[in-house]
Amino acid sequence: MEFLGRFPTTRMRRNRRDDWNRRLVAENTLSADDFILPIFIAEGQGRREHVHSMPGVERISADLLAETVAEVAALNIPAIAIFPEVDPTLKTPDAREACNPDNLVCRSIKAVKAAHPDIGIVCDAALDPFNSDGHDGLLVDGHILNDETVEILCRQSVVQADAGCDVIAPSDMMDGRIGSIRQALDDAGYADVRIMSYAAKYASAFYGPFRDAIGSQAALKGDKKTYQMDYANSDEALREVALDIDEGADMVMVKPGLPYLDIIRRVKDAFGVPTFAYQVSGEYAMLKGAVANGWLDNDRVVLESLTAFKRAGADGILTYMAVEAARLLRDR
Ligand code: PBG
Repeated sequence: MEFLGRFPTTRMRRNRRDDWNRRLVAENTLSADDFILPIFIAEGQGRREHVHSMPGVERISADLLAETVAEVAALNIPAIAIFPEVDPTLKTPDAREACNPDNLVCRSIKAVKAAHPDIGIVCDAALDPFNSDGHDGLLVDGHILNDETVEILCRQSVVQADAGCDVIAPSDMMDGRIGSIRQALDDAGYADVRIMSYAAKYASAFYGPFRDAIGSQAALKGDKKTYQMDYANSDEALREVALDIDEGADMVMVKPGLPYLDIIRRVKDAFGVPTFAYQVSGEYAMLKGAVANGWLDNDRVVLESLTAFKRAGADGILTYMAVEAARLLRDR
């Protein structure tokens, strides 16, 4: 790097001296276009509850969705992701409610599409909200069944597409599910419905608050280590992503986010496909917990943490901070 200059003719601080100059040489930018807002939906009417471990995040009933989505639209956030808190009495070992065309997810999709047809809707394909065992797949004799689960995920995906979902996001980490879901969508006439694969999803303790939010924690038997990835691994993430692209994924995701920026960078460099990061519930809880204690400055950590994803190579970020970040970006 010697050709790049040498002190004292070169002074790195010159380009940092003024705000205009810093803005001029910034290598990465963050905008509302980068965000997908995850929203927790509950059964009932007029319900709005705080998620205890995620200060500032609410669980709302489907009738209140239009209001939230209006704000999302006004801020130019392109898409939302819907996550249901399913009535415990509807949870079964075969997770059949996942394929009910009138389930909470499908009713929510229709409510959003009716009010704001131009907002992208992303829905998980996974059984955990509907499964009395709390797992993303079918649990039989202590094992998560792969191929049998994939069959259900295909039906779940088509049902969600029927309701108007734009992007199916398989978050279950079963093998072969991207190819099967692609086939099922195509067979049902949904060649244009996109797949955003949770391609490199790690077995992480950072999902704790999410499982509280959708009420899957209480049900969860054991852990998810036989299908989600070991956080010690990185090469394995590249294989997962390669397989999913080969099977037809339009976009891939790395999850969690900030502790896994190295994976995002490797994936983006290796494949150059649309790559997303999920700043998960536990990351949100960490930042907001420190903010609540007065230990961190909210607005600055919001923008810094989100920009870090862009620097790592992410094209977009699923983040619970999407609305406040978009407001900060608009007003700065
Ligand atoms: C479930 C799913 C999880 C998240 C998104 N989809 C949790 C899990 O795998 O247990 C986590 C999101 C978050 O923590 O914010 N398939």
